[in-house]
Amino acid sequence: MKLPVFFEEDRREVETALDLLLPREDVPPPPIHRAMRYSVFAGGKRIRPILCLEAARIFAEDPKPALPVACALEFIHTYSLIHDDLPALDNDDLRRGKPTCHKKFGEATAILAGDALLTLAFERLAAAPVEPARRVAIIREVAAAAGTVNGMVGGQVADLEAEGKAIAPEMLEYIHKSKTAALIRASLVAGALFGGASEADVERLRRFGQNIGWAFQVVDDILDVEESSAALGKTAGKDQAQRKATYPALYGLEKSRQMAADLGTRAISELSPYGERAGRLRELAEFLVLRRA
Ligand code: FPP
Ligand code: MG
Repeated sequence: MKLPVFFEEDRREVETALDLLLPREDVPPPPIHRAMRYSVFAGGKRIRPILCLEAARIFAEDPKPALPVACALEFIHTYSLIHDDLPALDNDDLRRGKPTCHKKFGEATAILAGDALLTLAFERLAAAPVEPARRVAIIREVAAAAGTVNGMVGGQVADLEAEGKAIAPEMLEYIHKSKTAALIRASLVAGALFGGASEADVERLRRFGQNIGWAFQVVDDILDVEESSAALGKTAGKDQAQRKATYPALYGLEKSRQMAADLGTRAISELSPYGERAGRLRELAEFLVLRRA
């Protein structure tokens, strides 16, 4: 299942902006820039930047100026994938259908490429063309989402600790909300802040983001069981092999599918005040629950 047709337009704009916002390969020292570009352009779906742009579009006529913010989210996401694949973490050879960063460039360069993408994200956020108070709010939101308290790093730590153990549903929920939903939620909040949304609207987009981000990781768990490595562009069946804490492991496939669908419905209900202005975001949310890769 492909992204909805009109998202192709957003995706193209994101690709162009990513290219402009990353140092060129020949900028010294070239090896790090080669590795950063390799992983960023390995073929991601660009879900987080597109969510950011579409959240901005609800509140602003033209979401294009939000592209540096959108791209910063993709830099952070790519850093997290590079580090997640390292031998010390999930130890994977395949990502986005290509050899992982450390397989291609070695572990030292992959660690540094991840560090550099995270740092570059904040450099670009700091220069985003938006009123300073909103810029600071965006930076704070994104930093917290990438961090340890209910954020991506915290979720990743809990995910590693849960391997091979029987865990409570609350812990599984914490892992999914932190390691995956936090950054997706921040993408929507950042877009809304950039677009000039009111406090109440920012909170609405936050709830939308939390639920769609949570659903996204439940679907990711389901796809790991149901799809092939070729379809996913990463090693399928890995969760079970590593005895990861997942929704299918705890609830079975059918209940997991129902839970993802319910979270999607709850997310979409937050968009009702925006009518057609949120049409694209609604369609994107539906895609995220029904996707096959
Ligand atoms: C796939 O996204 C990625 C996830 C579902 C997130 C999993 C969470 C982590 C890997 C957290 C790692 C954190 C640290 C700190 C190492 P996607 O389907 O959008 O991938 P794509 O960009 O390749 O399309
Ligand atoms: Mg992992």
